[in-house]
Amino acid sequence: MDLQEFITEADAIEHEAAAAFQGAADADTLEAARIAFLGDRHGRVKALQDALRGIAKEDKPAAGKRFNDVRTRLTELHASRQSAVRSRASDGACEDRSLPPRRQWRGAKHPVTLVIEEIEVIFRELGFTIAEGPEAETEWYNFGALNFPPNHPALDAHDTLYLEGEGLLRTHTSPVQVRTLQRVPPPIRVLIPGTVYRRDFFDASHAPAFAQIEGLCVDEGISFVDLKSTLNRFAERFFGAARTRFRPSYFPFTEPSAEMDVQCGICGGSGCAACKGTGWIEILGSGMVHPNVLAAAGVDPERYTGWAFGMGPARIAISRYGIPDIRILYDSDVRFLEQISE
Ligand code: DAH
Repeated sequence: MDLQEFITEADAIEHEAAAAFQGAADADTLEAARIAFLGDRHGRVKALQDALRGIAKEDKPAAGKRFNDVRTRLTELHASRQSAVRSRASDGACEDRSLPPRRQWRGAKHPVTLVIEEIEVIFRELGFTIAEGPEAETEWYNFGALNFPPNHPALDAHDTLYLEGEGLLRTHTSPVQVRTLQRVPPPIRVLIPGTVYRRDFFDASHAPAFAQIEGLCVDEGISFVDLKSTLNRFAERFFGAARTRFRPSYFPFTEPSAEMDVQCGICGGSGCAACKGTGWIEILGSGMVHPNVLAAAGVDPERYTGWAFGMGPARIAISRYGIPDIRILYDSDVRFLEQISE
């Protein structure tokens, strides 16, 4: 092949390959054209390269330059055509590019979960571990072992759904006190979060299913001082420098019993809608574990004493975030949740 023939062949390849690449409407056609022209084994550019060897020495620089130009141009042409064909393939027939872009959704924790986790951290620091128990309970664990006398008026507040057989949906997390005492010997310091059920109307301050957190501490020589100091410490950590007060109360499973209030964080104690004008917010029930409860769980009440508490993290979330109605927490309205969730 002389130089003239070489140049003519190079022109022809360039021209035909360019037309084939540009005319390829889809990836398969373009790939076939690539193999025909730029293929390593039988491509026409490869054949042209082989022909270089037969060119007279003095014509080699010119032929070599022409060859390089053709190969570079065709390689570039192929690459740009390939990206055009690819983006056309992703252009689905039903895609509407005039639509606004979709928002990015970011998952976050529910305000009640945030409160529970924060409480868990504080009690872990005080040496408590976390335990759980079943939501479907027996009457004995939910009431009997907790010293509820049959037909006692305290049962009224704990009306619930009864399951087939002898089961019921637990009305509080207190039955897990008994389960824990049966499972491990004292000393016990345990925090028990969980869902509980009541036959309550869904109103601004009640829900038929809600979260509770139970706490239990049992050992030799535990007194009401331990109860008060631990719960005050918790209130200090959780609510800041809030003041607390204990009011006498009644629960069948504690004696004596007390409810703990914290000074309202929204008005600072002067009285507002969140604290119903009292300056205080009730956050938990507590007391010294009744000897009958220890005995029912197989723990010797002559040797061991303990204290316990139960609180509602949804109530706490409401006062903390100034939420006017508990139902908002259960509506799953993202516009609300986004304002609080982290
Ligand atoms: N179980 C009680 C309720 O749901 C709350 C409670 C009060 C739990 C006093 C306790 C306690 O452990 O000591 O109303």
